[in-house]
Amino acid sequence: MKIFATRVIPPDGLELLQRAGLTVTQWTEKRGLSATELITHCQQYDALLLASDNHIDRAFLEQCRHLKIIALLSVGYDKVDVAAANELRIPVTNTPGVLSAATADTAFLLMLSVARKAFFHYKRILRGEWNFSEPTANLGIDLEGKTLGIWGLGNIGHVMAKRCVSAFGMKVIYHNRGRNEAAEKELGAVRVSFEELLAQSDVLSVHTALTPETTGMFNKDVFRQMKPSAIFINAARGAIHNETDLIAALQQGIIWGAGLDVTNPEPMQPDNPLLDMPTVAVLPHIGSATVETRNAMSVMAAKNILAAYEGTPLPNQVTS
Ligand code: DGY
Repeated sequence: MKIFATRVIPPDGLELLQRAGLTVTQWTEKRGLSATELITHCQQYDALLLASDNHIDRAFLEQCRHLKIIALLSVGYDKVDVAAANELRIPVTNTPGVLSAATADTAFLLMLSVARKAFFHYKRILRGEWNFSEPTANLGIDLEGKTLGIWGLGNIGHVMAKRCVSAFGMKVIYHNRGRNEAAEKELGAVRVSFEELLAQSDVLSVHTALTPETTGMFNKDVFRQMKPSAIFINAARGAIHNETDLIAALQQGIIWGAGLDVTNPEPMQPDNPLLDMPTVAVLPHIGSATVETRNAMSVMAAKNILAAYEGTPLPNQVTS
């Protein structure tokens, strides 16, 4: 089996594939592959290890029907037309679970950075504005005892809630389609309606998947239902929030702050007004970007490819 990886992949997964005698060709250029280049490459390989943000649409799938597997190096699979892949019998796999802690840590980092205006203060130092002696200037807020609202309490949301409970004794409320009994038992999390989540959260952290239902969900009407002191965190997918509405909500004091690991669109342009706001922290989609986590993800993707090679059930196949 010949595998094409759209980026250089972490060593643990690569070694696993090579030890099994499989050939892995990696795209080593700094620039990403265009859609046409991706098709041209995939036509020469049996398996695709998708480690880039290329979109896999029906047109791609129709021209690469021979693929035995598309193994994603991500938990999110919104960039793939899974329904079309199912129809064409091309299995798609993802990497759930192993990146939950690292991604939750990113959300936690953003929350604390916004609360203490960390990115803003860092920029002040770069501008030579180290005026420590002003007791009322540029103050942040405490998180101790505040209410954390989680929209989408799955694996990542659960770890975020755990971090917030043990670090700051935060009270956890959440909104999900179903109940998360483990989080209720372990963290005292309380399931509330979406409206209650908006009205009661001091920090509202988004951990849901991008679906047609969640696309553009955080818009001006929704921000208006949040507290003026609230912090909005998105470490899931940028398209879940309307960025123009978020900018307006922050400028007009409808909400207090925002921490984003994902933006809408990506990449965020350097002249985006969010980057100049004291109560905003933005990171360039680094949720799972640690050595340990990326290695674990590569091993998971490799195991899925090996299963496709051996004709055994795929451990992490996504079906819808
Ligand atoms: C994921 O794993 O879904 C990350 O957000 C990278 O896309």
